[in-house]
Amino acid sequence: MSVLSKQDPAVHEAIAAEYKRQEEGLELIASENYTSQAVMEAVGSVLTNKYAEGLPGRRYYAGCVHVDTVERLARSRAKELFGAYGANVQPHSGAQANAAVFLAALKAGDTILGLDLSHGGHLTHGSPVNMSGILYNATHYGVQESTGTVDMDQVRDAAKKGQPKLIICGASAYPRAIDFEAFRSIADEVGALLMADISHIAGLVCTGLHADPVPHCDFVTTTTHKTLRGPRGGLILSNKDWAKAINKAVFPGTQGGPLEHVIAGKAVAFGEALQPSFKDYAQRILDNAQAMAGRLQERGLNLVSGGTDNHLMLVDLGELCSGKDAEEALEKADITVNKNTVPGEKRSPFVTSGIRIGTPAITTRGMGTSDAIQVADWIVDAIHARNDEARLQAIGEQVKELCGRYPVYNDLAI
Ligand SMILES: Cc1ncc(COP(=O)(O)O)c(C=O)c1O
Repeated sequence: MSVLSKQDPAVHEAIAAEYKRQEEGLELIASENYTSQAVMEAVGSVLTNKYAEGLPGRRYYAGCVHVDTVERLARSRAKELFGAYGANVQPHSGAQANAAVFLAALKAGDTILGLDLSHGGHLTHGSPVNMSGILYNATHYGVQESTGTVDMDQVRDAAKKGQPKLIICGASAYPRAIDFEAFRSIADEVGALLMADISHIAGLVCTGLHADPVPHCDFVTTTTHKTLRGPRGGLILSNKDWAKAINKAVFPGTQGGPLEHVIAGKAVAFGEALQPSFKDYAQRILDNAQAMAGRLQERGLNLVSGGTDNHLMLVDLGELCSGKDAEEALEKADITVNKNTVPGEKRSPFVTSGIRIGTPAITTRGMGTSDAIQVADWIVDAIHARNDEARLQAIGEQVKELCGRYPVYNDLAI
């Protein structure tokens, strides 16, 4: 019996139930993944006890010799992985990483230009409910309704009109490749700084399976827990001109003490991503996404932009049903996706007309293209059977059987 189960059965039971949910269901949320046991061991370590404000070798507290080792490992591995000059591994999350870049690069009231939230952008790229849209003058580009893709001419027009100080490229729900080089040339035309938020595609970028933003951008931010498969957290890469300012903007600018236990988990994850096997993993994410997208289309579903170049696809359900209805039906069949707005959205953001589906997590557990095709069939079947509880339950049984063949963790002590 674990210490936790004896001391606090209520919390233990919830964790055990969540573990069962993660093992027995299909995780298709594009921003989620299963991190390794080694990463979880690091995150659950005694490093959670240590305060370490500052940077390795320059801390405000004594006793930092070992956390310095860990943070140096994380930093040097991140730099090697992405070929960047500077890496700050302290941001607690993707949102914190973006906030630090804004603090370093902008003054309150400056204009920023990012992808509209309802077109696949992120809250932190200038949404009016986020500090990025409250403190700064946020302007947006979108995707073309007819193609579902970003039109660089429209980005250029928006940049010329708004004269932003900072242009943000990168997205939360965009299935196509991002042309960082084209963004750079637009940024240069209007004298703007350029930030790429590669939170979703970091695992594809570091393996060369997506174009590299580092040579073109002043700042590259990412989460560490999506395709990169690390612990929940953030990372900022920067060039020589900005490395110092970024460090200051993280601490003391926007954060206090770094989470050294999470930084240890990042170090382990970056070490894993540097292995050749990680490139095979990233390629299998793409293969599975292609297989799933193809099957969904064969079965009559409409994908925004007609397919995918990366780990995710966006299904436009049109009149078939709402994204909310599809999400709820799929959950009853133990298939987890999230409802998502689509370009030209007519429903509210709480209802939506689409769902976003991603393959990183099922790929981590070892599923291949034939499984991805089977999963696509269940998705379509479940959406059509959304009012048929018995049918949804029957699909759920098949899902459980498939997941049983691909356990995520072996011997995990809960
Ligand atoms: C593009 C992008 N940026 C930033 C974030 C924010 O990351 P976090 O939830 O770790 O703050 C996300 C999260 O989904 C994201 O997709």
